Amino acid sequence: MRAPKGTFDVLPPDSERFLAVRETLTAPLRRAGYGYVETPVFEDTAVFSRGVGESTDVVTKEMYTFDDRGGRSITLRPELTAGLMRAFIEHRLHDGALPVKLWTVGSAFRYERPQAGRYRHFTQVDMEALGVDDPALDAEVVALGVQGFRDLGLTDFELLLTSLGDATCRPQYRELLVQYLEKLDLDEDTRRRAEINPLRVLDDKRPEVQAQLGDAPLMVDHLSDSTRAHYDAVRQHLTDLGVTWTEAPKLVRGLDYYTKTTFEFVHHGLGSQSAIGGGGRYDGLSAALGGPDVSGIGYAVGVDRTLLAVQAEGLDIGVAAGVQAFVVPLGAEAKRVAVRLVGQLRQAGVAADTVYGDRAPRTWSSSATATWPRVWVSSRTCAPASSTRYPSGSCSTSCVKRWGRDR
Ligand code: HAM
Repeated sequence: MRAPKGTFDVLPPDSERFLAVRETLTAPLRRAGYGYVETPVFEDTAVFSRGVGESTDVVTKEMYTFDDRGGRSITLRPELTAGLMRAFIEHRLHDGALPVKLWTVGSAFRYERPQAGRYRHFTQVDMEALGVDDPALDAEVVALGVQGFRDLGLTDFELLLTSLGDATCRPQYRELLVQYLEKLDLDEDTRRRAEINPLRVLDDKRPEVQAQLGDAPLMVDHLSDSTRAHYDAVRQHLTDLGVTWTEAPKLVRGLDYYTKTTFEFVHHGLGSQSAIGGGGRYDGLSAALGGPDVSGIGYAVGVDRTLLAVQAEGLDIGVAAGVQAFVVPLGAEAKRVAVRLVGQLRQAGVAADTVYGDRAPRTWSSSATATWPRVWVSSRTCAPASSTRYPSGSCSTSCVKRWGRDR
């Protein structure tokens, strides 16, 4: 049996790096007052079809959807934002102090064509600040994303930033873009996509399409006064926070809920799957899910891709610490003493392990444990490997205390 296509197991010692990336990405969120939340890995399908958008690839092609035994349509979450918003509405968090700042980390599922950095099961760190529309909050969110990457030691990444406007200006812009696209030489498939969401054509990577988009109207040139002022203020705050960015007027995200500030973090050492995170503001998501008319902003970072970025930059993080004492019983009689000593060491806060089974010493000395400091235990004495033997008749609490003092 093998893990399903597009999935993988995270095993020691690599799992230590995975944990370190996850912890480092979430630490800035905790410091900034974001509260941890957990939502189910599956939701009613409508949460995503209404939330993420009926026209997106994520909803039309990539969701793991099934009817449960009660006949309800259920979907494994393809992203975490819609579920968090569902919880925000269900628990009436909007009745309390705003913004409500939340973070979570967990599995997401998309039926995508697997390749390096693109999986069917992956892990996201997700954060959302809900209920307040303030450019300073947009800047906080973006800056926290940058902080997480910086704390990992990453340098070869870039923040792409734009504004996607809102209901006051996007419909007019959309009309302009449709008129522009109608005059281009596009294949049927692309035309169909343009009808559903013309903005997505801007993001088409094919050179023959990009070559025709040189004069395409851009959203940032058609922002309403209020969305322009919002975007200007976001950029001012980002400058104050020491965050640099690249203007990306053709940035189009794969999810439909974005309005105003929209961004992506790309890493230059990753090839085609270069987005290590992305997010933006979403004014309509709460209302689309039956909640009050409040906006939110947030991002998700792909833990798996960030780990690849860490490896691409050769960063040495999350190296397994090993134990502080590896207790080796010499002979069957010493076994009881060794087991007791390991228990006492652990109770005293010392990371300890011992050997199990009947394997010969040379087998385990050549394993991953080879570099761990050893405490050899005979039936009569115990001592750290290369130091003096303690003259205790058997291992006892006093032996543990001495070992703790001497180490
Ligand atoms: P997203 O851009 O779809 O945004 O995903 C965020 C990140 O998840 C990506 O930048 C990437 O690192 C990772 N990711 C996505 N798909 C895969 C995959 N198939 N395999 C491995 N990693 C993947 C969202 O999910 C939004 N919910 C973000 C957000 C939060 N917007 C507002 N709040």
